[in-house]
Amino acid sequence: MVKIAPSILAADFADLGSAIRAAEAAGADYIHVDVMDGHFVPNITVGIPVVAAIRRATRLPLDVHLMITAPERFLADFARVGADIITVHVEACPHLHRTVQQIRELGARPGVSLNPATSLETVREILPYVDQVLIMSVNPGFGGQSYIPTMTAKIARLAALIAETGRAIAIEVDGGVDVNTTPEIVAAGARVLVAGTAVFGHPGGVAGGIAALRAAAGITQ
Ligand code: DX5
Ligand code: ZN
Repeated sequence: MVKIAPSILAADFADLGSAIRAAEAAGADYIHVDVMDGHFVPNITVGIPVVAAIRRATRLPLDVHLMITAPERFLADFARVGADIITVHVEACPHLHRTVQQIRELGARPGVSLNPATSLETVREILPYVDQVLIMSVNPGFGGQSYIPTMTAKIARLAALIAETGRAIAIEVDGGVDVNTTPEIVAAGARVLVAGTAVFGHPGGVAGGIAALRAAAGITQ
C-alpha cells in the first residue's frame, strides 16, 4: 500500500491549519514537515514551535524531515512536540547509529535520508535500525524542482538492498513527485510519496491533487 505525505512547504504558511485539515480530509496518510536551517541546505523554513502547532491541528502522523546540521541537538524537542517519524540526513550525521538510536529511544520512528549524489552504501549498515529511508529526488532546499531521472534506478537498488535485510523498511521519495513521475517511482519500490507542489499547487485544490496522485500510484481504496 502506497502512502501519500503532503509536504506543507508548498502550502500557505499563513493558513497552515486549513491546508492540513484539507489534506487530512482528502486522505493524506502523513503530514510531511520540511525543517531547514540555512546551513545544511540553502533555505530556512520552520522549526519546533510550528511542529507543535501542526500537532494540534491533525491526528495524522507527522513525518518530520530534518535538513539540518547536527540534528542530534534537537531530536528530543521534535519528539516532545509530537513528531512521529524523524528523518535525518546521513550527510549531517557522523555518528548515525547513535543518532538513530536516540530517535528510537525518544519513542519516534527513525528514518534516514540521502541527497541525490550520496551513495546507497552509506545506509547499508544502518538498515537494521531504521523504519524508513528517504531518497531525495531533487537537491534539498526548495519545493517545485524537477525530479532527477536517475533516482528511479537508485530507488530500485535500495529496494533490493532492503529485501536482503528481510525487514519492512519503507522507501520514501521526496522531490518532484507528481502524476508523471509517480508511476515509475512506485514501480521501483517507493511506498511513501512526498509531494508539495503536486498537492498544494494543484488546480483542483488539495483534494484534487491527492486524488490525482493516488490514481497515478494505483491506490484503489
Ligand atoms: C525539498 C523538500 C521537499 C519539497 C518537495 O527540500 O524536502 O519535501 O517540499 O516539494 P515538491 O513536491 O514541490 O518537489
Ligand atoms: Zn522533505
